[in-house]
Amino acid sequence: MKVIELDHPLKEHYLTILRDKNTDFDTFRISASKLSYLLVVESTKHLSLKNKEIDTPLVKTMGSEIENNSVAISVLRAGLGLVDGVKELIPNVSFGYIGVQRNENTAEPENYYEKLPELTDKNVFILEPMLATGGSLSFAIETVKKYNPKNIHALTVIASPEGVEAIKKAHSDITLITASIDETLNEQWYIVPGLGDMGDRLFGTT
Ligand code: URA
Repeated sequence: MKVIELDHPLKEHYLTILRDKNTDFDTFRISASKLSYLLVVESTKHLSLKNKEIDTPLVKTMGSEIENNSVAISVLRAGLGLVDGVKELIPNVSFGYIGVQRNENTAEPENYYEKLPELTDKNVFILEPMLATGGSLSFAIETVKKYNPKNIHALTVIASPEGVEAIKKAHSDITLITASIDETLNEQWYIVPGLGDMGDRLFGTT
């Protein structure tokens, strides 16, 4: 598995705002959105181009356009926090949604919601901001793989070393792009130092 950890001063700036427990909801949402652009730029380097002839005000010239074959899948609900960069930067991207929860009896992840566009032969971007144990991301990747996508890139804001190892073991064929690989997971499976519960902080719940 290829793992890319962003290395950019803007990433440090916005991630610090997200980590700060005194950041208000509006600022948190705006900073998550800004960070999503940095993650999207890094994770779209493989997208293919086709030639396009255009007229500049002076001459004909050859340009390029991105082929329309990308799909972004938000893992509900925190994945919604990364949608902005995807929809603003990737032309004609389609969106899908997967809701994953732990079955209270079996402790296995299962989906409570799924709405997916065509995935076969697509560049798929899975938006799962907090990679803790890797359970829900792994579940989302397995769901996507059933449809034979062209490739899978997972975008996370913060990953735990444990989560990265779990995904490496289960899905060595994907690429993981993260703003930070943090120190560890605590006993409640929160990432440390982390930023707390991403969904709560995005949507103002507790
Ligand atoms: N999900 C979160 O929102 N935060 C964590 O630290 C771990 C999982």
